[in-house]
Formats: sequence, structure tokens, C-alpha cells
Amino acid sequence: MQYRLAPLFCRPWALNGITPRLIESHYETNYGGAVRQLNLLTEELEALDPSTVPAESVSRLKRDQSAALNSTLLHELYFASLGGDGRAVPEAMAAALTRDFGSVDRWRREFMALAEALAGGSGWVLLTWVPRDGRLINQSAVDHGQSIAGGIPILALDMYEHAYHIDFGSNAKAYVAAFMRNIAWSEVQGRYEDAVKVAPPRPLEQKEFADVPAISVEDVQAMIDNGTPVQIIDARPRHYTTRSHEIMEGAVWRDPERLDEWIGEISKQQPVVTYCVYGFHIGCQTAIALRKAGYDARYMAGGHYAWKAAGGKVRLLEE
Ligand SMILES: [Fe+2]
Repeated sequence: MQYRLAPLFCRPWALNGITPRLIESHYETNYGGAVRQLNLLTEELEALDPSTVPAESVSRLKRDQSAALNSTLLHELYFASLGGDGRAVPEAMAAALTRDFGSVDRWRREFMALAEALAGGSGWVLLTWVPRDGRLINQSAVDHGQSIAGGIPILALDMYEHAYHIDFGSNAKAYVAAFMRNIAWSEVQGRYEDAVKVAPPRPLEQKEFADVPAISVEDVQAMIDNGTPVQIIDARPRHYTTRSHEIMEGAVWRDPERLDEWIGEISKQQPVVTYCVYGFHIGCQTAIALRKAGYDARYMAGGHYAWKAAGGKVRLLEE
């Protein structure tokens, strides 16, 4: 495929304290250079036969291609981030920044700190929407890498020296301040509105257990931490517990096959959390059986391994 150049988004003559000469050189040399390199690398990759060319060569070309593609995309976002009055943050955008950073001012201070830390280096500072978590974060991306997977950057500040030395010499601080004065917030907000429409990654769905209430490992941890009384039952099948000698701290193991024998030991006055190895079947079935018998039972999503993956404490399982 051939990557096409995007026309310059901002109007260079309208910028405050940033000269057209700087924007022209940046657009032509650095952005244009990235697109041209991206096309050369893409052409080279398309022409080679991955089964005969050494794997390291393919890998090196792909790495360079990713860097050129990110440079292309981020430069386009950078030029589209300029051209406004950086001080006037529209209401919806201000509300989003306040929700995720505490205040617009706190967002600004963090964003500028990341930029100033890149002075003399090379990289990007990005305001990025993360669909998985439904929130905005600031990030710095050293060189052209480290973009958050699945993230949608909506504001980009180029901290490569080529982005400022013509106007500001080595005074990166003055450049960052000028950038902040020129942010096109209405454009940023437009991209924010588009980004929030992107669906988060699909969560695990267990249609057959859709009606069984689940609880996350984080919420179980919070119950333990704040002293909420809870009865935690490890209902991993016997053959698993003989293989793994660990059990979640605070849990008791009960054989799911012999529920009738132990159900009378649990209190109906306190909530019950039950889980199995990964959270697929046994934990859910145990929760169903307990609920049918009148207990306030939920299954812990992700089971024993989610608990461990979240850094939850375990103890030795002694029988
Ligand atoms: Fe650049």
C-alpha cells in the first residue's frame, strides 16, 4: 500500500509565538521525511519473501516501519493540535480532564512536566483516551515508540529538537509554553468525542452464567481490607488442590462434589464468595447451588489465578 500525505492541518500564520518558518520546515522535512521513509520501507517489505529473507532482516524492517508509521501519525496529530487559543478549554473537555486528572490545571502541570523532562531528548507527550478503562491519561513516548495499545491519542506535543530549535534554540521550556498557548481545544474535543465512541475490548462473557452475580478480585480484596465479614470458599475440584499447594488467604477449601456435606457449616447471615481455578464453571455452579439454598453467594471472577495475578496473598494449603 501507499501511505498518502495529509495536508497541513493548522494555519501557520495564525499561530502565536511559533513562526511559519518552523512549521514549514517541520512539516516538509520531518513529517514529509517520515511519510517518504514509511513508503520506502513498506515497498521493501512488500517486495521481499519472508520465507527466504533472514528473520532478523524482516524484523528490523518491520521495526523501522512501525517507527515511521508512528512518526507519521503523531506528526499529523501534532499539527492538528495547534491553531487555537490554548487557554480556552471548552466545557465538555474541561469536565473530562477534571474527571480524570482532578482539575484542568493538574492535567496541564502533569502534561508540561512530561514535556520538560523530554527537553534535549526526543519523544512525544500525548493525551490519550484508553477505551478499556474509559479514561484519559497523559503519557510520554520516547522516540516514536511506546504508544499505548488500543489507546487513541487526541493531543500530541512533539518534543524532538527539530520541532522547536528554529524558533526557540535549546529553550524547550519556552517552546512548551508556546505550544500550550496554541492548543486547538475545539479540535481536541472533537477527537475526544470520536474516541469515546470506540468500544472497549470485549469482556469475557459466560452466557450460561449471565444471571449469577460475580465479584471481582479487587472488590473481594477491598472487603477483606475494610473488615467486611465474608465467607470465602475455594471450590476447586479435588484434583486441582492436590496439584497446587496454595490457597487464597482467608479462604477455606471445600470439595465442590460434596456440597451437601458442608453447606450446613456456612452462615446465612454473611455473604459468601466462592471461586474455582479460573472462574469458568465450578465456582459459578457452586454459587448457583448456594443461592438456591438461600445463601447470599457470588462467584469470584477469574478464580484462583485472577486472585494471584492481582497480587492477592495465598497460604499453604494443608489438608
Ligand atoms: Fe517532529
